[in-house]
Amino acid sequence: MSRRLIVGNWKMYPTLSDALVLTSSLKTALEGVKGVEIALAPPTPWLVPVVESWHHKLENVHFAAQDIWPHDQGAYTGQASAFLLKNLVSYAIVGHSERRSYVGEDNDLINDKVHACLRWGIKPILCVGETKRLLDADGNTDSYQWSRLSIQLMEGLSGIKEEDLAKVSVAYEPVWAVGTKRPATPEYALEVIGRLREKLSEKYPRRALGELRILYGGDVDVQNAAGFMKYPEIDGFLLGREAVHARNFAKVCSTAASL
Ligand code: PGA
Repeated sequence: MSRRLIVGNWKMYPTLSDALVLTSSLKTALEGVKGVEIALAPPTPWLVPVVESWHHKLENVHFAAQDIWPHDQGAYTGQASAFLLKNLVSYAIVGHSERRSYVGEDNDLINDKVHACLRWGIKPILCVGETKRLLDADGNTDSYQWSRLSIQLMEGLSGIKEEDLAKVSVAYEPVWAVGTKRPATPEYALEVIGRLREKLSEKYPRRALGELRILYGGDVDVQNAAGFMKYPEIDGFLLGREAVHARNFAKVCSTAASL
């Protein structure tokens, strides 16, 4: 398994026909991209047609759900569980900042989702991120933002066993960068990712922690990707807007593979 993971979150951007065109373009664009894991996350209603139209043998390309519901089956109108999606996807995004803010998801629910993914063989991608800058220009920490961020991390991973860490990714996505034209600098992301690992080392042995990936997300594009990827501590990306441009997305993937 390649160390780096690039996740393309298509959010609610493509219509069905857009999604099928994008899938077809990605088949070609990703053909020669090796040495990196890739996960494509179409809108839930397009998962089946997109997966069916993929018909492709690129061992490093997988599908992801943009969210899952923690209960397996039952009276949960509008939801799709890990149990229902388990044969369609290999990964699932959980706790995305848009769900935390628009749907009011809390850390307990998100932690249940992480467990449900692992129960059904789906690799969870747990999103965490501060709403206002955690570090100022001198590197000083806003302790309120740090406590919120570290709680998202520790509560999101509550009860996760050491042996499951290799299946888990954390996506560090500062909310002030997601969907904006203001990405964190690579050095900012590196510093916060280091602190998140340090926090996790209070609970997990370093050897097991070495298996867990920490990605960066928030306005990553074809221009700025290399700046992040020169740091081996950044294990990949979660992309939104750039994920629906096949050529650019593929370039980001090859940059991640080559640096
Ligand atoms: P963006 O979104 O790349 O459009 O900033 C990232 C995300 O929401 O994961």
